[in-house]
Amino acid sequence: MPVAASSITVRAPAKVNLQLAVGPLRADGYHDLINVFHAVGLYDEVTATPAERFKITVSGDLAGGAVPSDQTNLAAVAAIVLAAATGYRGGHAHRPRVSSAARAASGRRPVRDSARRTGSGQDQEPGGGSHPGAAPGVHLHLRKGIPIAGGMAGGSADAAATLVACNELWGTNLSRNDLVEIAAEIGADVPFALVGGAAVGIGRGDQLTPALVRGTYHWVFALADEGMSTPAVYAECDRIRERDAVAVAVPQTAEDLMIALRNGDLAALGKALTNDLEPAALALRPQLRLTLQTGLEHGALGGIVSGSGPTCAFLVADAEHALDLAVTLSAAGVCRTVRRAIGPVQGARIVVPEPSISDH
Ligand code: C5P
Repeated sequence: MPVAASSITVRAPAKVNLQLAVGPLRADGYHDLINVFHAVGLYDEVTATPAERFKITVSGDLAGGAVPSDQTNLAAVAAIVLAAATGYRGGHAHRPRVSSAARAASGRRPVRDSARRTGSGQDQEPGGGSHPGAAPGVHLHLRKGIPIAGGMAGGSADAAATLVACNELWGTNLSRNDLVEIAAEIGADVPFALVGGAAVGIGRGDQLTPALVRGTYHWVFALADEGMSTPAVYAECDRIRERDAVAVAVPQTAEDLMIALRNGDLAALGKALTNDLEPAALALRPQLRLTLQTGLEHGALGGIVSGSGPTCAFLVADAEHALDLAVTLSAAGVCRTVRRAIGPVQGARIVVPEPSISDH
């Protein structure tokens, strides 16, 4: 008889948006997007271990902002949603009933909002008691390698990793497609953290089509001292547009960008990077201008604010240029720290444990 796993570790990548085109504000508080996602090799790891009560602990690069250990954490939301979608109550494997649950849920506002309303405070158990989506006992340990509140979807990576880890630990046996379907209910960037690679997201950014990409891309990321709130950056974007009476068009995929990706044309890709949230991020954090300018003056083929910021992402020609630029940005003192990574990389995957001495 197979021995039940004592814990499962999953790692999930960060993303950078090669194009982020933001349409008008919708009635549901979201914006229609064209979101060209690119998964890069900065990772968060989530380890799920059976436990009496729900618990989240966090380690790793904790600069940038606080990571909640209650149910406002997207990883907690993911555990609650997976348990609700599968009927899992703890203890033993359940027959999945996700498809109907996920279908019923689709088109609604993300479930994180209702999950959040069920309680608050650091010591509260998610879902506590009568909530239909109560989280079963599991200890989630988050090892942060993705900048917190950095515009690189670290929270979404944690949610995606939790879905894969708990699905395995609980034996709920959902398919990848089922997980992707429920991921969209947790947050707009969560499906992509599962899928990885490169993809075009439409709608809230969560309806994904894989993008054709040739080659490997080298990136340098300039990390800031303090994170930024995604809703605040979207709100600033709306405010600037209203102030300047901008007629906001329905977003379109940038053809030059897609051609550059298909051809693996680095120089063209560098020029084609765009982010409609960048003016808002720069308005809220003016010092990022100097960070961008420094990167572009020192060999980057392109540079943008990543997502809602404040991380700045620089595309460079190769690994050697990446090292040069990383050193230059550090020495210039225009960021807290730097990271180098390549993309595209695959989405959330189980980490196979190294055999320990006791296994021999
Ligand atoms: O779902 P997610 O966590 O990615 O969204 C965080 C916030 O970003 C939303 O509450 C909303 O303010 C903003 N957002 C948006 N339009 C999108 C995606 C996110 O306005 N398509």
